[in-house]
Amino acid sequence: MQERVTLIRMDENQHTEDAGRKSWTWVLPDGHASNDWSHYRRRLATVVTRQGLESITLGTIAGEPLLMLRAGTAEPGAPRLLLASGFHGEEPAGPWGVLEFLDATDGDLLSRVQLTILPLVNATGFRAGTRFNAFGENPNRGYLGLPGESPSHEGLLLLAHGELLLDAACDGLLTCHEDVLLSHAYIYSSEHTAEPSGFSHSLLAANAAHFPLHPDGIVDGCRVTGGIVFNHYDGSFESWLMQRGAARIACVETPGQHPIAQRIAAQRAMIEAFLACAPAKQD
Ligand code: NI
Repeated sequence: MQERVTLIRMDENQHTEDAGRKSWTWVLPDGHASNDWSHYRRRLATVVTRQGLESITLGTIAGEPLLMLRAGTAEPGAPRLLLASGFHGEEPAGPWGVLEFLDATDGDLLSRVQLTILPLVNATGFRAGTRFNAFGENPNRGYLGLPGESPSHEGLLLLAHGELLLDAACDGLLTCHEDVLLSHAYIYSSEHTAEPSGFSHSLLAANAAHFPLHPDGIVDGCRVTGGIVFNHYDGSFESWLMQRGAARIACVETPGQHPIAQRIAAQRAMIEAFLACAPAKQD
């Protein structure tokens, strides 16, 4: 495809209400629209049953459930990882990537970890193909009470389950995002180290296997070096859990200017990399 190099994008802080409500949809390889919520729910229910996953409804927002799944081993010493997707409704490759991962996993990767999954946080935004939810709120802001930010309906629900989510993410958090205006991939990561470790680099490599990496410079108002925005803090879900004590977090970004199938494949590959680099089980 023709590549469009865009170094200037709408930064999170510059997302106007109009941009947050603009609808973005793609056609999936199976012919369904990327925002087909009932198709997503049906496929998810099938996978949950087939893989024998536990499914819990954390709450309901505008009539839509916010689902949490439990997968992997119940062995208490196994690493506890949280995977979360679909905060922004115009970034559908994340939720579909989670589904593809669950559909295809043979259990080897899962057997080593206790995995909690929020497959689709912002269902109303997903259905509409819009970044913001049906209330015009950004579901990935307002977690830390920073000036000018307040939590969305989804944020309030996740904050209400803070202890549960922190426990689920204690050995790591991966959130799946997209950057609709970009042709280049990158990741945000935070670790309790001065430099990105193998954790960040393995996620980056999985993204770079599918797309060119963002050149060094500024992305979304942040300094990006070697494809990584490192130890950046804001009012996001990721920063909240990192500040509350998660061992490490990453927020991966696939570029929306590439075909949706490629973006879904990249998201799945990054989820697999996230599980593969989990710390060894503690006895
Ligand atoms: Ni996003």
